[in-house]
Amino acid sequence: MTDSVLARRYGGEVPEPIAPANDVIALLQRHRSVRRFTDEDVDEATLTAIVAAAQSAATSSNMQSWSVIEVRDPERKAELSVLAGDQAFIRAAPVFLVFVADWARNRVIAERRDAPVEGIGFVESTLVGFVDAALAAQNAVVAAESLGLGTVYVGSVRNRPEELSDVLDLPQGAFPVVGLAIGHPDPDDRAGIKPRLPQRVVRHRETYRAAPDAAVSAYDDAVRAYYAGQGSSRGWIEAVLNRVRAAASLHGRHTIHDALRRRGLPSR
Ligand SMILES: Cc1cc2nc3c(=O)[nH]c(=O)nc-3n(C[C@H](O)[C@H](O)[C@H](O)COP(=O)(O)O)c2cc1C
Repeated sequence: MTDSVLARRYGGEVPEPIAPANDVIALLQRHRSVRRFTDEDVDEATLTAIVAAAQSAATSSNMQSWSVIEVRDPERKAELSVLAGDQAFIRAAPVFLVFVADWARNRVIAERRDAPVEGIGFVESTLVGFVDAALAAQNAVVAAESLGLGTVYVGSVRNRPEELSDVLDLPQGAFPVVGLAIGHPDPDDRAGIKPRLPQRVVRHRETYRAAPDAAVSAYDDAVRAYYAGQGSSRGWIEAVLNRVRAAASLHGRHTIHDALRRRGLPSR
């Protein structure tokens, strides 16, 4: 089982030697994003357990500079889905979580004590909030998958971050980092374990070495084979080229520094 998971994860080329997976590692290695959900709800107690797992992630200096907004209202989900790239699975999922970098809470704590808040204005603080939010979100993903639920991240909550912040009533100092649709996977969903780059490309021993192009081309072939199995002709290299080509590739996110500044995270 583990072998076939790793073969799919690496598109055939399994790194060796590799220790046998325990339950946690096996769960992580078989991750896949789920974009089709059944109508079944995710109940309150389950979500509380998922959020407790998210809160259990490490957090920079224990500042806990993140929050999560849980959206279940169909109209609000519909509004968010339009703002976040019009992705239908946001409407279909019973729960849509938006993880936010949140310095608003700690700023209020300081201001109530008439303490200065200069430190919030630096890019380091923005990065801390984004990293904290991402770590929490990934713990939520792992917790949900361990319960047999499916998830997909939604980075396009940053496409129109100010309008999206208004829909969620985010205060100054809080900024959307990533959304997470959670639900029960539709058994007809064809998405599988998507191949990743070989370890010799992403894993550098002692010092950094540029990736050999042959390894990247071989990976592109593995991704093409994966998508071909789903009736699509996409490749990985073309996706990279499209993503790095121009500002327009960022779906509006190239103006994020201005948005951060206007929303109370000047990121100097
Ligand atoms: C920060 C982040 C943002 C993402 N945003 C989106 C998104 O807006 N829409 C989407 O369909 N998938 C989104 N994804 C999912 C990625 O496309 C997916 O993780 C990647 O293609 C690898 O596939 P896998 O998760 O099935 O292994 C996002 C993933 C991450 C980590």
